[in-house]
Amino acid sequence: MSEQRAGITPPSGARFARILGVGGYRPERVVPNSELVERIDSSDEWIRERTGIVSRRWAREDESVVDMAEAASRKALEAAGLDASRIGAVLVATVTHPFQTPTAAALLTHRLGATPAAAMDVAAACAGFCHALALAGDMVTGGSAEHVLVVGVDKLSDFTDPDDRGTAFIFGDGAGAVVVGPSDTPGIGPTVWGSDGEQWDTIRQRSSWLDDPTSPDFSSAFSMKGQAVFRWAVWQMAPVAQQALEKAGVSADDLDAFIPHQANMRIVDSLCKTLKLPAHVPVARDIAETGNTSSASIPLAMERMLREGEAPHGGLALLIGFGAGLAYAAQVVQLP
Ligand code: UT7
Repeated sequence: MSEQRAGITPPSGARFARILGVGGYRPERVVPNSELVERIDSSDEWIRERTGIVSRRWAREDESVVDMAEAASRKALEAAGLDASRIGAVLVATVTHPFQTPTAAALLTHRLGATPAAAMDVAAACAGFCHALALAGDMVTGGSAEHVLVVGVDKLSDFTDPDDRGTAFIFGDGAGAVVVGPSDTPGIGPTVWGSDGEQWDTIRQRSSWLDDPTSPDFSSAFSMKGQAVFRWAVWQMAPVAQQALEKAGVSADDLDAFIPHQANMRIVDSLCKTLKLPAHVPVARDIAETGNTSSASIPLAMERMLREGEAPHGGLALLIGFGAGLAYAAQVVQLP
């Protein structure tokens, strides 16, 4: 007679998940276009016209990705009304923490007093925040954590060549964080995401950290084929955003905010047009004063829209991140 084996207890979590609080951190130093143009034979006018960027923030030399992540996280925890000890997992979306190990997430978890929360970094560049948010929602409903801290943080000034005409004017530094937790109603819609590694060389690190340890500064800076990425973003991302709306059962008319990755104001405008976004839906335009902060751009823009009363607390927002990889992710969320 065969003995009946006990089955594995299946994981069980909250019925739904939502964002409970958001926080942002913008470094103190404002860098206007005028500070950058001479080295790249550009002009304030060209940068404003082609990107919508007026100024960006740069972190201090001694200010790290983890420092910025900590500042944003403390604000997000406060907004959520939650002590760090209640966090079960910390996900840090970043591509500029300059160590493969230890992760920024482990260092951040310790600093916040959230130990022994699970901690890991998510590397999906400008799509990183939407990737980590998708994971966090699934973790809360899947039962692997009751509350998850999600941070998007990048210090791109460390990885930008000030003499590179294709990138020197576009990137900025900053951090945005959200706390994801249980909810009685659905607060994070289905994620539409994907990647296209065939286009790996359109945005990339110039060379591996292993290639030539003696090479001068900026050998590991990011480089970008701007036009190719621009075209991809404009043509391929609108259908992804549309699918995220459809999967969430929401129409563009129902939205209270559209918060796309702040890559370029012209890309933001083009997405609004292709999506036929009604004029009453407020659109994130944080790039003007923040530049392109990669993983941080969506939570930073979200924090600003709520703080300035541009978007309502509890309203519905469409998020879409896209960038190096190439990688992309979009979802509809309920704002905290
Ligand atoms: O965040 C991750 C995803 N990233 C993105 O989505 C970025 C996507 N790409 C872009 O935002 C844009 O491609 C850039 C802002 C990077 C560049 O703008 P563009 O309109 O695509 O410029 P372009 O490379 O097509 O160049 C247009 C003109 C050229 O002059 P001619 O040939 O028309 O006379 C360039 O030589 O602008 C010139 N140019 C510049 N002029 C002043 C190129 N770079 C500069 C510059 N300053 N920095």
